[in-house]
Amino acid sequence: MTISIKSTIFICLFSSIINTAYTQQSIPQKVDALLKKMTLAEKIGQLNQYNGDWEATGPITTDVGNKLDAIKRGEVGSILNIVGVQHTKVFQEAAMQSRLKIPLLFGQDVIHGYGVTFPIPLAEAASWDMAAIEKSARIAATEAASGGVHWTFAPMVDIARDPRWGRVMEGAGEDPYLGSLIATARVHGFQGMGLGNLDAVMACAKHFTAYGAAIGGRDYNSVDMSLRTLWEIYLPPFKAAADAGVGTFMNSFNDLNGIPATANRYLQHDILKEKWGFKGFVVSDWGSMGEMINHGYVKDNYEAAEAAINAGNDMDMESRSYINNLAKLVADKKVSVKVIDEAVGRILTKKYELGLFSDPYRFSDADREKRVLNAPEHVEAAKDIASKSIVLLKNEHQLLPLSKTLNSIALIGPLVKSKKEMKGFWALNVGDEKEIVSLFEGMQQAAGKTKLLYAKGCDITDTSRAGFAEAYKIAMQADVVIMAMGERPDMTGEAKSRSDIHLPGVQEELIKEVMASGKPVVVLLMAGRPMVFNWTADHVPAILYTWWLGNQAGNAMADVLYGDYNPAAKLPITFPRTEGQIPIYYNHFNTGRPARNDNDVNYTSAYIDLPNSPKYAFGYGLSYTTFKYSNLRFSKKSMLKKETITISFDLQNTGKYPGEEVAQFYLRDMVSQPIRPVKELKGFQKVMLQPGETKTITFIIDKEKLAFYNDQLERITQPGEFRLMIGSASDDIRLQDSFELTD
Ligand code: GLC
Repeated sequence: MTISIKSTIFICLFSSIINTAYTQQSIPQKVDALLKKMTLAEKIGQLNQYNGDWEATGPITTDVGNKLDAIKRGEVGSILNIVGVQHTKVFQEAAMQSRLKIPLLFGQDVIHGYGVTFPIPLAEAASWDMAAIEKSARIAATEAASGGVHWTFAPMVDIARDPRWGRVMEGAGEDPYLGSLIATARVHGFQGMGLGNLDAVMACAKHFTAYGAAIGGRDYNSVDMSLRTLWEIYLPPFKAAADAGVGTFMNSFNDLNGIPATANRYLQHDILKEKWGFKGFVVSDWGSMGEMINHGYVKDNYEAAEAAINAGNDMDMESRSYINNLAKLVADKKVSVKVIDEAVGRILTKKYELGLFSDPYRFSDADREKRVLNAPEHVEAAKDIASKSIVLLKNEHQLLPLSKTLNSIALIGPLVKSKKEMKGFWALNVGDEKEIVSLFEGMQQAAGKTKLLYAKGCDITDTSRAGFAEAYKIAMQADVVIMAMGERPDMTGEAKSRSDIHLPGVQEELIKEVMASGKPVVVLLMAGRPMVFNWTADHVPAILYTWWLGNQAGNAMADVLYGDYNPAAKLPITFPRTEGQIPIYYNHFNTGRPARNDNDVNYTSAYIDLPNSPKYAFGYGLSYTTFKYSNLRFSKKSMLKKETITISFDLQNTGKYPGEEVAQFYLRDMVSQPIRPVKELKGFQKVMLQPGETKTITFIIDKEKLAFYNDQLERITQPGEFRLMIGSASDDIRLQDSFELTD
């Protein structure tokens, strides 16, 4: 046997042994081995994220020249705002020309859909349907991953109690319990069976933290709150996301009690990485690192980079602070290589988990992209959750559902024929806008022989009344009028705070004009936030809050209008009577002078010019049928901490339509130090009941449901009386009784 054959066999054997050894190496071992090969400059490059060329989702900081060249030099670890197999492949090919061929991470705001747009997250939250919410994220991930995206900057899990804040549309509303369940559902949806699967994208819990508590509801504004409020209200959804295995966190633009989140070590290191044991990585939010100069927290990007990396911020989105300053900070001994290695290690770990080192192009399959995008089952799922997100606010004289034997329906309003608007904010332009179903198109498909009349009536914000006469005229010709009113989709979202959240323009005057026709009127309200519309609420017989429902908006609205789907959604956020009531939320403290009712203003905590109660309460939503709650029973009326109490009650459908009810469980700790809210959501069940059908619903009380944080931030319980309240809304309690915690 010649030497050449022997040496070939030896090389094959040796390389297969090496390969086997490598593949059998654990990810931590691979990360350590790679770190040892990397120069400091290459390590810093992994901490640097640039915006792609697709579009900017924030103010462009400074030009960095040719990004592909920077990638080839190993100066970039991730690119955001880039979609599509073809486009991402070009950037990945550049990364494969770098010395160590470390693959790029492609990140994108896949917030509520990718090709098929789903309802905005706040709308989906109104469904209280965790399976549907998870499925929505699952489909978004499947489509995004087919388009070359590795990482979505979602779910946004910020608790929001202020509807002036435009980003209320992006989260799950005001409640920590509901918000935590939804955070879990969305992380599971996006990450599916785990990173590395070709239909999974890495999720990102954002914005860490308390961004939704911006003073005045003004985006990016300061946040000032007690640590107990932080732990009780704003952290739970983030903890739920971490427990659900979310791959990354994104910090937030706001300062929290004077420390910008991007440099907040208490949040990013003490809580997230140490107490919660989070192993993923933290990315800053669009330039937030550099914005600490504006905050007045640092004097330049050099100090910003130092503060951020030492606080636990791993990746720098778009501020260029790390790429331009970390090497000098290491030379100046302001930042240790150990800290940099820790950050780089977290990022490389995720790239290994996504399988990008074994095949950097594994998400770049053009055939899969074509096969997966806008698949029929995705469209069907979008319609399903859209129907489940529509809240029935009012339905006097059972005006709804509509009969299919009506002669004519007048469709009036600026949003009747709108299509792209149905996507709302944070929607991508990947899908074909022709696929979006407007209300008009949905009604055309559902109305059968009923004649549809149309008039726009007015614009969304314009003050012209020129279209009123035409609207009144066609209303007079119709059996029923359906009005599609609301905001523009760009009136709620990032940097879209409104000081006045009334229905914009002259829309409410148009509603009055049409009501003067004497015809039955149904108003559909489309917005990304709670709006104020008191005259409409008080005078129009039927009102549906439809948010922004995405691609299948028109079909979902038609299904609900005709009763093909009986609405069951419940508000995930309180609707104020006016801006003057804000902040207003259901889980408030009682105060020393609680108003006993809306008229009790005699030395009570009340307004003398407005009832204290909201226009619509958290958890409120009607059905075409009715439900009876009865027969509340407890397994026992006192418990030790180590025990539980099982409560049961009967829920009956007392109407004539099959329907779902979201039965809500609230608890109140009657005497505690510190004090506790007048009620807190601790459970719910969404139950389908046929007409006349009764089901027994149970709910188990354990000590975790009774626990709270004391001023030392210890999670404790205190013995004493608790009140259980079961209801159809936070202000519609049907059954209640007390029980005792005895130790
Ligand atoms: C934006 C948003 C953030 C988003 C990021 C990237 O400013 O605050 O939610 O993920 O930039 O687009």
